[in-house]
Amino acid sequence: MAVTIATSLSSTVKLNDGVDMPLFGLGTFRCESGANKEAENAVVSAIQLGYRYIDTAVLYGNEEDVGRGIKRSGVKREDIFVTTKVWDDCHGYDECKKSFQASFKRLDCGYVDQLLIHSPNGGRNVEMYKAMLEFKQQGLVRSVGVSNFGIHHIQGLLDAGMPTPSVNQIEFHPWMKRPKLVDFCREKNIVVVGYCPIVRQQKFDDPDVVRLSKMLNKSPGQILIRYSVQMGIITIPKSGNPKRIKENAEVFDWEIPQEGMDSLNSKEESGITWDPCSSSNPWLG
Ligand SMILES: NC(=O)c1ccc[n+]([C@@H]2O[C@H](COP(=O)([O-])OP(=O)(O)OC[C@H]3O[C@@H](n4cnc5c(N)ncnc54)[C@H](OP(=O)(O)O)[C@@H]3O)[C@@H](O)[C@H]2O)c1
Repeated sequence: MAVTIATSLSSTVKLNDGVDMPLFGLGTFRCESGANKEAENAVVSAIQLGYRYIDTAVLYGNEEDVGRGIKRSGVKREDIFVTTKVWDDCHGYDECKKSFQASFKRLDCGYVDQLLIHSPNGGRNVEMYKAMLEFKQQGLVRSVGVSNFGIHHIQGLLDAGMPTPSVNQIEFHPWMKRPKLVDFCREKNIVVVGYCPIVRQQKFDDPDVVRLSKMLNKSPGQILIRYSVQMGIITIPKSGNPKRIKENAEVFDWEIPQEGMDSLNSKEESGITWDPCSSSNPWLG
């Protein structure tokens, strides 16, 4: 598949199911729900700044806040793309159905643009996927995909005769480039969505990040977000802070030069999250 590079917050890519998906979004993991309205306010700020894609999950505990933020933003529902995910404790057909029905109520936004299996760890991917496809048929979900799937997990779905997932959402940044998995997804026409683009601030003192940040007069966060953009990966930086939400989106009118991309591409692989795709992951046996 041809790789599409985002040129603005409203750039989109056509998924293998015909749905147009924005190439840049707001992550909401650890965006707090409830009294301080962090998650709701972050969603409102992001949408009002031009973000068109919000990523949430049952696990994040903020689907209601995301739904409220979308309503409060003043932007038409059909102009926003919302992804949520079914967590590991709801693998299986009936479990997935129950989980999504609850997500649907919490989000309360008419339909869900994209529903993902959060990870393959629950082990009942095919049953779960079948339930998700029924939601699509019923018009409750527009696009069905996966997250944290390795090649063998995706192949397992395809071997069972399932339609190809629209996306695979995986950890992606200079220390987690996963070329084999990314190439496999692209060969199968599966769009890669990269999470943890700014490596949760853990690599802000990397010498190349510091050097590029000074050279281009951009923050370390912007350098890392721009890296994902230039790699043609959909990216979803999280921030609950309106200033950073704005800063993170200011990555479309400048470029990291090739030598800078080369230096970031030369980093050794060392993921920072739970990495369920890894063959050394004890959950996979
Ligand atoms: N599918 C999965 O299994 C999975 C796993 C992890 C993440 N995700 C998704 O991907 C999204 C992004 O990943 P992530 O949240 O783990 O990590 P991330 O986006 O790499 O980093 C988020 C952290 O960086 C801070 N930050 C944001 N912008 C900044 C800036 N410009 N300068 C300095 N610090 C900044 C945020 O704090 P403030 O909020 O205070 O700004 C937050 O602590 C998640 O929110 C979630 O939607 C999915």
